[in-house]
Amino acid sequence: MSVNDTSTTSPLAQNKHLATHIPVLAIDGPGGAGKGTISRLAASRLGWHYLDSGALYRILAYAGSLQGVDLQDENALSQLAGKLDIRFGIGSDEGVWLDGEEISDQIRTEQAGAAASRVAALPLVREALLQQQKAFRRSPGLVADGRDMGTVVFPDATVKVFLTASVEERAQRRYNQLIAKGIDGKLCDLLADIQARDERDSNRSVAPLRPAADAVLIDTSQMGINEVLITVLNLINLQTP
Ligand code: DC
Repeated sequence: MSVNDTSTTSPLAQNKHLATHIPVLAIDGPGGAGKGTISRLAASRLGWHYLDSGALYRILAYAGSLQGVDLQDENALSQLAGKLDIRFGIGSDEGVWLDGEEISDQIRTEQAGAAASRVAALPLVREALLQQQKAFRRSPGLVADGRDMGTVVFPDATVKVFLTASVEERAQRRYNQLIAKGIDGKLCDLLADIQARDERDSNRSVAPLRPAADAVLIDTSQMGINEVLITVLNLINLQTP
């Protein structure tokens, strides 16, 4: 074999080739449609890895605020994205750590969601987080939850699902979650927040929230968690041996 022999695949290309054979279940949709719940349950049933891509945007916005970075400063935020020391715990260790500190509750507030939605609209930020998201694709499979999993991050996903629900239903679910946690909230405020976030996520210039052409649309407004989970698992079972 000569050094110029281009017929031999490089280790990097081989890894890429292998990675594309690892199945991905992409679950996209607006906030509050049940993506997080369904994705976690599906990952646990399948024994696959789980990517909560929204958490990455939330963590970046949180870290940026802590460090006094202007949340519109695309360059500073994209540089910060490459330096974050993030750990996702699973099972009994479930949670999110940033630089060794648990920040699970801090990134789950409505405010953190709105800040995440703002930084997520910046093209350089999305580019900076792209490789980190792709690296979650590991054997035996990945369930990826977000807005652009099926359109941008894993366009070759094995199954693409777009979960949606009416805005009223999503606000009601969020309200019930807050009440269960003992947090007070106003349904009308939650509805307005969700509408504003939908608007921003759907109308940004890069990777806007929309179903991939080959996604299966599931409206969960009138469905229970188990029914949605079974529907999603059936789709993946049909596609994987
Ligand atoms: O899924 P979530 O609510 O945790 O996401 C928070 C915000 O992050 C959401 O409003 C838009 C953004 N996001 C995104 O732009 N792309 C993703 N793949 C995931 C989230």
